[in-house]
Amino acid sequence: MQPSDCKVSGTTLVRAPAHPPDSLFESCPWFYALCREYLFRDHTQEIVQALFPVGGPVAGTHLLELGCGPGFYACRLSQEYPQIHTTGVDLSRRLIARAQSRAASRSLQNCRFEQGDAHALVDASNSIDAVVVSRLFLIVPNREAVLSEIYRVLKPGGRCFIAEPTSGFRTRIPLSCMWLLSKLTSSPAGKYREPRQADVMTATDFAALIRSQPWGIAELQYDGWYQYGVCEKPVGALSGVAGESSPQLEIAEWSEV
Ligand SMILES: C[S@@+](CC[C@H](N)C(=O)[O-])C[C@H]1O[C@@H](n2cnc3c(N)ncnc32)[C@H](O)[C@@H]1O
Repeated sequence: MQPSDCKVSGTTLVRAPAHPPDSLFESCPWFYALCREYLFRDHTQEIVQALFPVGGPVAGTHLLELGCGPGFYACRLSQEYPQIHTTGVDLSRRLIARAQSRAASRSLQNCRFEQGDAHALVDASNSIDAVVVSRLFLIVPNREAVLSEIYRVLKPGGRCFIAEPTSGFRTRIPLSCMWLLSKLTSSPAGKYREPRQADVMTATDFAALIRSQPWGIAELQYDGWYQYGVCEKPVGALSGVAGESSPQLEIAEWSEV
């Protein structure tokens, strides 16, 4: 075991979770990073507008990017706002390594990356100012558990921005390319198994997911390619326990973002 495999939790050493070695994200991290850079939409401006609608982020803001992959948003936001600090979390060792090199190549001191599982964050409850989640819910096995963790770690008044693709067909294209590349470059061929499919949510499922937490404010927006959730933990919330109040969900159907 390498030192990076361990996290200290109280007095117990816990092995950090990771994708299985047969994951496509471990097999072709460079290809996913290329797609993120040149193919997928850049939502940086929408993120800033949603998370910091008045005057940008204040000094000391701690932003978490979950399922950060190659660290696209954590690096962009750290570079644009040197007064904040960002943490990118991802299951993939190799994508975390890419994210770390990306931050180092830009000499970013306010940006760090760690391997971790979005279902069980190491952050304390009520400790994070803002969370960015892009294209993660289509991959994770338990979406509600992930959203519950986001709610738990957010400070009262803290916000999260979620962007999820709406087309299963378009989303599966990069994954299929990763499958092909893995088969061509691995020996024996075809040993990669996970994730088999990207499970894109319907608008109804997406709304139900957002409603699973007692947000003070939650807005859903849609365009032809993505569905977006912008959610705020109630200012008066004292704990991260779900079900304390019912969310006042405003749904803006199919508005362009
Ligand atoms: C489709 S990619 C999205 C990457 C990036 N957020 C983007 O916008 O392109 C999904 C990412 O989530 C990561 N991931 C999957 N399951 C995870 C989990 N349980 N906890 C943290 N990251 C996870 C994968 O390793 C991968 O980097």
